[in-house]
Amino acid sequence: MPLVSMRQLLDEAAKGGYGVGAFNVNNMEQIQAIMEAARETRSPVIIQASRGARAYSQDKFLYHLMLAASELYPEIPLVMHLDHGNSFETCKSAIDLGFTSVMMDGSLQEDGKTPATFAENVAVTRKVVQLAHDCGVTVEGEIGVLGGIEDGHGAGGTGLEHVTDPNQAVEFVEQTGVDALAIAIGTSHGAYKFSKKPDGSVLKMDVLVAIHKRLPNVHLVMHGSSSVPKELQDVINQYGGKLKPTWGVPVEEIQLGIRNGVRKINVDTDNRLAITGAIRKVFVETPEKFDPRDYMKPAREAMKKVVAQRMTQFGQAGHAGDYAPIPIAEMKKRYASEAVAAK
Ligand code: 13P
Repeated sequence: MPLVSMRQLLDEAAKGGYGVGAFNVNNMEQIQAIMEAARETRSPVIIQASRGARAYSQDKFLYHLMLAASELYPEIPLVMHLDHGNSFETCKSAIDLGFTSVMMDGSLQEDGKTPATFAENVAVTRKVVQLAHDCGVTVEGEIGVLGGIEDGHGAGGTGLEHVTDPNQAVEFVEQTGVDALAIAIGTSHGAYKFSKKPDGSVLKMDVLVAIHKRLPNVHLVMHGSSSVPKELQDVINQYGGKLKPTWGVPVEEIQLGIRNGVRKINVDTDNRLAITGAIRKVFVETPEKFDPRDYMKPAREAMKKVVAQRMTQFGQAGHAGDYAPIPIAEMKKRYASEAVAAK
């Protein structure tokens, strides 16, 4: 199956009332882990790469690995998505390469650190929407600013400094025409999200519900959605790691989000933890080993387990065969006719 439009995947998820995990990758083993999990659970899937991932793996390697995934797993609808594009040029280069979906994160300025004004965010996101839709490519925008820093991208802080204002969310969608909207509800990237199990004072699910009430037909995106399970932290620490106690986003809160318009759920940290724990275990238990396959195989298996579990919890499991992919050229025509109708 060719790489699929994220818009189609999310429209189908909305019809079926489920969410779709968007998993970050940097290398072949992570892509393999996700595809194996998708096959096992019969799930449509979004694989995403940040600017850091593109630099680490080189665009062409990444793109051809994704093509290999779509060839080897023809039954799985697969989206290749740019995570946190910082500028029009970054999004354009992803579209030119063959990504079927891009995130323009105009909530921050091009430096990826300084919060942008609403007007700046609208202007750059709108420009990306025009280009992307002309090419049949999906766009995710962001309003409000997430906490934490990932791959050098992020404003830092706790995630509560710039929680999304529901009124602004409505204006932002109207003025930009994005296909999906990332919102800030107190989550942050990375392992250190919360210092105890989060409640409504730090994880603003009420804001998410309020946004969904005003934008019932918009696909919402939850970033910073790793659950940071204690079992994964424990494996790392048991084998010489030094993680401080920390809490992520409980899966039941994500499921509440899915009942309230969340269609895309970003997960990276949980997979990083699973991989690192598995590698540490091999190094400690069998220090005589030095073949990378001896630790990359269990690492890949550990990540697959986490991804398969999330696919089941988000509800995407079992939905891979529900629909035939709409070619990107057809998406291009659809966007063009929507634009004409809007005039
Ligand atoms: P986590 O760090 O919670 O996995 O979030 C990843 C993310 O939101 C990528 O955009």
